[in-house]
Amino acid sequence: MTTLGLIGLGRIGAFHTETLTNLPGVDRLLITDERPDVVAQVATKYDVTPVDSAEKLLSSGVDGVVVAAATPAHAALTVAAVERGVPTFCEKPVASTAAESARVAEAIARSGVPVQIGYQRRFDAAFAAAKAAVDRGDLGALHTVRSTTMDPAPPPMEYIAGSGGIFRDCAVHDFDVLRWITGQEAVEVYATGSVQGDPLFTEYGDVDTAAITVRFDGGALGVVSAARYNGRGYDCRLEVHGFTDTVVAGWDQGVPVRNTDPRNDFPTGQPHHFFMDRFTDAFRAELGAFLGVVDGGPIQGATVADAVEVAWIAEAAAESLRRNAPVTIEEVRR
Ligand SMILES: NC(=O)c1ccc[n+]([C@@H]2O[C@H](COP(=O)([O-])OP(=O)(O)OC[C@H]3O[C@@H](n4cnc5c(N)ncnc54)[C@H](O)[C@@H]3O)[C@@H](O)[C@H]2O)c1
Repeated sequence: MTTLGLIGLGRIGAFHTETLTNLPGVDRLLITDERPDVVAQVATKYDVTPVDSAEKLLSSGVDGVVVAAATPAHAALTVAAVERGVPTFCEKPVASTAAESARVAEAIARSGVPVQIGYQRRFDAAFAAAKAAVDRGDLGALHTVRSTTMDPAPPPMEYIAGSGGIFRDCAVHDFDVLRWITGQEAVEVYATGSVQGDPLFTEYGDVDTAAITVRFDGGALGVVSAARYNGRGYDCRLEVHGFTDTVVAGWDQGVPVRNTDPRNDFPTGQPHHFFMDRFTDAFRAELGAFLGVVDGGPIQGATVADAVEVAWIAEAAAESLRRNAPVTIEEVRR
């Protein structure tokens, strides 16, 4: 009999509620959020158990907890969970900044309680096959890895205000994939960006469009493209080039591009609408893997140590944009 808790019922939390209620092995789900009206609505819709507060949920004897609250709450909720000995799945990023992520990682290490971080692309069939091809050596040495994340439209501006900006909130997925695929550590980051959409992005010190290059210690170059406005749909692609071969992930029939070649009608499907429809199966697989962690198995997805490294890349990107110059990981770690 496995009882899970879920804290945070916004966009992704409501989506995870649906996934968790359909996941074999989850016998009971307790949910909470800072907004009692939302807790009541979600509890009724999915026939799950509402709880008044995160504190009560974590002290109720749950076997594991999923933290899907807003980013500024991740650090405190994750630390509170591990201090009570509750295995935790925390949505990315692990904390608002890299320094805070590193402090959370220390608290988690002291507790000895397993924590998995929500980088779901690792569980996508195409991304996993690309990783397997690299690991088999099919591509030879990697020279260039391109990772793209373009949302069709930005989330509400209140979300953007607390998100930490496009590098820490959005491009972190790309940074995680670059590290994971290459098996290399980032050395230097160069980022640029612009605002052509809502002027509030500028007010928040953020950008709505970004391009980032990441130099890795094994010689591979990462090229990341991220945008908050992409009219044709949710564009998430990975292109991995080696000395002997190239593989791509995300070039499926729903890739949101219009091909102008009259001799080739690819892609023929409806463009992906957003991360929920593109990664439905990956979200199910990663939460299924977390159930294995709750049962005492190893972490198969991103660990906290992975998330901390990714957070430093995001930190360097933010600093690079500010300075308009390349920034080393060593500099931001100091
Ligand atoms: N893996 C992914 O692809 C992915 C996609 C979207 C969001 N996320 C992450 O999930 C998190 C939530 O994103 P969202 O889009 O659902 O945001 P959201 O703003 O829609 O929802 C956040 C929810 O958290 C609740 N909340 C805030 N602080 C809380 C606290 N201390 N205790 C309980 N509830 C609290 C809010 O009331 C709100 O309902 C973010 O950290 C984001 O980075 C990950």
